[in-house]
Amino acid sequence: MKLKPFLTTFFCLLFIAAFSQNNDLPQDYLTKEFHKDRREQLRKLLPKNSVAVFFANPIRNRANDVDFIYHQDPNFYYLTGYKEPHSLLLIFKNEQTIEGKAFKEVLFVQERNEYAEMWTGKRLGVEGVQDKLGFRIVYNGSKFKSYEIDFSKFDKIIFKNFKNDVRDTGNEADLFDLIKVFKDKVSFDLLNLTNTSNDKIYNETKKRIDTKLLDGFMTTLREIKTTEELVLLKKAVEISAIGQLEMMKAMHPNMSETEAQGVHEFVYKKYGAEYEGYPSIVGAGNNGCILHYVDNNKTTIGENTLILMDLGAEYHGYTADVTRTIPSNGKFTTEQKLIYDLVYKAQEASILETKIGNKFRDTHQITVDIINKGLAQLGIIENEDSYHTYYPHGSSHHIGLDVHDPGQYKTFKENMVVTVEPGIYIPKGSPCDKKWWGIAVRIEDDILITKNGPINLSAMAPRKSDAIEKAMKLPSALNNFNLPKLD
Ligand code: GLY
Ligand code: MN
Ligand code: MN
Repeated sequence: MKLKPFLTTFFCLLFIAAFSQNNDLPQDYLTKEFHKDRREQLRKLLPKNSVAVFFANPIRNRANDVDFIYHQDPNFYYLTGYKEPHSLLLIFKNEQTIEGKAFKEVLFVQERNEYAEMWTGKRLGVEGVQDKLGFRIVYNGSKFKSYEIDFSKFDKIIFKNFKNDVRDTGNEADLFDLIKVFKDKVSFDLLNLTNTSNDKIYNETKKRIDTKLLDGFMTTLREIKTTEELVLLKKAVEISAIGQLEMMKAMHPNMSETEAQGVHEFVYKKYGAEYEGYPSIVGAGNNGCILHYVDNNKTTIGENTLILMDLGAEYHGYTADVTRTIPSNGKFTTEQKLIYDLVYKAQEASILETKIGNKFRDTHQITVDIINKGLAQLGIIENEDSYHTYYPHGSSHHIGLDVHDPGQYKTFKENMVVTVEPGIYIPKGSPCDKKWWGIAVRIEDDILITKNGPINLSAMAPRKSDAIEKAMKLPSALNNFNLPKLD
C-alpha cells in the first residue's frame, strides 16, 4: 500500500473511531464552563479569607453486598460535574499557594484502579477530571492526608455537617477517611468535647468553623436556573408529561398499579432519562389518599376508579415532578369530576399568579381559599372555615437537581422553576357522605417563571377533565404487548 492512501485511510479511521466513541454517550451534559462559572459565583458569596469544603455523597447500602445506585450530592455535582464517590472539593475565597502551586480550588478524586474498574466501571481519575471537567489542580484522595494545607489561617472554614451514614469501606482514601483527615486538620472533634484541656484551640476552632452558611449560599445559586440548566430541566419535564399522556392512552381498569408505573418509566428511558427523580407514586382509589404512596402494588385498578400518578423523570441529574389523576375507564363519575374540576380551578388560579414579585405563601392561599369554598359548597365540610385534613400539604416547591430543590420560598423570581400542586384527598371513613370516599385528586405542573409570566412546562400532559377523557380514547401500543401469560 502506498503511503498517502494509507495515511488517508488511517486518519479517516482515527476520526471515525474518535467520533463514534464520543457519540455513543449523551452529548448534552452540563458543560465544564457551567460548573466553573458556578464555582466563581459561589466564590463571590464567600466571606473574606474563607474556604468552602464539599464532600461527595456516601455510597448507600441496599442489602447484603448490593448498594443503591450511586447518586452524587447535588451541591457537589452542581459545582464539579463529578459523579463518582469518595471525593472532596475545596473552594477558596482568595488565591492560595500550596506546595508551590497557586490556585483557588482543588479537587481530590477517586484513584484509577484497573481491578475495581473491571467490576464497577471506568473512573475518570486525575487526568480524566482535568480533561473532561476542566479542573487544573486535582489529586487522588490519598494525597489529602499529607497535603500541606494550613486550615488555621482561614477566618472561616465553611461546610455542611457530615452525613451520618458514611461507612468505612476499609479502602484507603474512602469518604470515611477523607472526613477523618479533614476533622483532624481542622481540630473538629474538639468541638464535641465538653471539657477541653486546650481552651485556646477550642475557642479558635469554634470561631472558624461554620456548618450553617453553606446552605444559604447554595440556595442563592440553585434557586435561579441558568440557561443550561433550563434546557435539561425542560427536557425532564417534557419527558414526564409525555409519560403521563402515553399512560392516559394505555390505561384500562384491569391494569395493575405496578404496570402503570412501568409505562411511565419505560417512556422515561425511551427518551434517555436515566432515573426517576423520586420514588414513583401510583395510587388507585383510596391509595391515592396516601401522599407519598410508593408500594404501587394493587393488582387491579378496577372500574370507575381514579388513579393518581405522581412521577418525575430525572434527565442528566435534573428532575421533573408531574402529577395527573385519571379515571380508570376513561370517564370521570359525577363525584370524581366535581372534585377534579375543583382542584383544577384552584391550580389554574394559582398558576396565573405564579409570577415575578408574587409570594409563595399567597399562591398557596389562593388554592386553600378555592378548595375550602368548593368543599363547603359540595357539603363535604360544614363551611369554608371548618377544620379539615382533605388538603394537608403545600402547593409549590422548587425543582432542579433535587425534587424539592433549595429555595428561600419567599418571592418568585425570573428563571425559577416551581411546581403548582393542589390536591383533595377523601379517605374511606371520612366525616362526609360515603359517595366521596376514596376520591383523591392531585394535579401538579412544573412552571417556569419568566418576564412574560408563567410558562407551564408540563402542558403536554392533558390537564382539563374533558381533555383527559379525550386523550384516553386514543389508541396505545403500550397496553397490547401480547406477552405470554404466566401461571
Ligand atoms: N412528588 C413529591 C411532591 O410532589 O412533592
Ligand atoms: Mn411536588
Ligand atoms: Mn409530585
